[in-house]
Amino acid sequence: MTLAGKRVLLIVSGGIAAYKAIELIRLLRKASCAVTCVLTAGGAQFVTQLSLQAISEGKVYTDLFSLTDESEMGHIQLSRSADLVVVAPASADILAKMAAGLAGDLASTLLLATDKRVLVAPAMNVRMWSHPATVANVATLRRRGVAVIGPDEGAMACNEFGAGRLSEPPAILAAIGALLTAPQPLAGRHVLVTSGPTHEPIDPVRYIANRSSGRQGHAIAGALAALGARVTLVSGPVSVPDPAGVTVRRVETAAEMLAACTAALPADAAICAAAVADWRVENAAGLKLKKTPDGAPPGLHLVPNPDILATLSATGPERPRLVVGFAAETHDLRTHAADKLRRKGCDWIVANDVSPATGIMGGTENEVHLITHDGIEDWPRMDKDAVAARLAARVAAALA
Ligand code: CTP
Repeated sequence: MTLAGKRVLLIVSGGIAAYKAIELIRLLRKASCAVTCVLTAGGAQFVTQLSLQAISEGKVYTDLFSLTDESEMGHIQLSRSADLVVVAPASADILAKMAAGLAGDLASTLLLATDKRVLVAPAMNVRMWSHPATVANVATLRRRGVAVIGPDEGAMACNEFGAGRLSEPPAILAAIGALLTAPQPLAGRHVLVTSGPTHEPIDPVRYIANRSSGRQGHAIAGALAALGARVTLVSGPVSVPDPAGVTVRRVETAAEMLAACTAALPADAAICAAAVADWRVENAAGLKLKKTPDGAPPGLHLVPNPDILATLSATGPERPRLVVGFAAETHDLRTHAADKLRRKGCDWIVANDVSPATGIMGGTENEVHLITHDGIEDWPRMDKDAVAARLAARVAAALA
């Protein structure tokens, strides 16, 4: 990726992850992007001004009331001279300052004064990240158009496990690249995407699932974010990585997926790419099922799951303007897909043939047919990322 001619103002705030800012600067410089750094007092506890200066090959600003700095470049000008302002890592403290509009130090002043897009990459202890105050602050920032990447889940420096780790520098670079280079026709729009399979428990250790990898749904979420949308991705259990710049809600069952979707409303559009299990086990056991002496298998009584696509498509004040479903079929594709468009009440159906011979389910390519109330478009077989980009462009055109 080249970001030649682009300028990033990077604010490094406090936290153990501040050391990763050095790798991020290295990647940005490698992509020919100019980087100006601002180091907060908290950040300076973890990395030095000198290391940021050496790697960014530029001045590192720290002090709001520095006469020398102000004479070289006033702080208002500093906040506007970049193409993008990035806060990485973004501590709970700086997120709270941004949400509240505080301007007591150089970093928060720049964030209040800037007229440029802002990307934050939060990193903090899992409890701080899930605290209602931080949740509310991040929601406020998102509503104002601040882009958020991560945090990732994993083991933390404080010996706890959960969401709070700074996204990896290459993922932050990708998010920066997407913000700096792509047109943003979906800026200000909120799009809900479902992806992956659902797991319906039989007992605490067994479940009913399907072969969906989540690749297509995740690619769509990423492609929509790249066009500037605020994306909520409600994902069943998958092993594909989270797309950059997307809020991910992880669920297991169809009931949880529906609850996460309705909680994410209002949305301008909803793309239901998840392979939701049609049935769940009504009599799922609370304890692990054991073999009986006579070897008779347990009887599983299946009951229908809620239909998320049909629920989101139902008319009402919260109905997204555009609701898109997928139809995974193994035979009579067009007939079944056209029937689904009618039955579910959605606006478009993206139909694909998931017969094993096609290699589509779980694979990297897809061949889809876009069915709207105006007719059917046959798209050529292509990479799932390319399908995602084309669909995201269509969503942008429909919401324009
Ligand atoms: N879908 C959903 N909730 C369900 C079942 C399906 O939201 N409980 C959505 C899927 O995300 C997809 C569309 O409905 O967008 C069609 O899914 P598919 O499994 O192909 O169709 P079904 O409705 O399950 O119908 P059938 O199994 O008879 O093909």
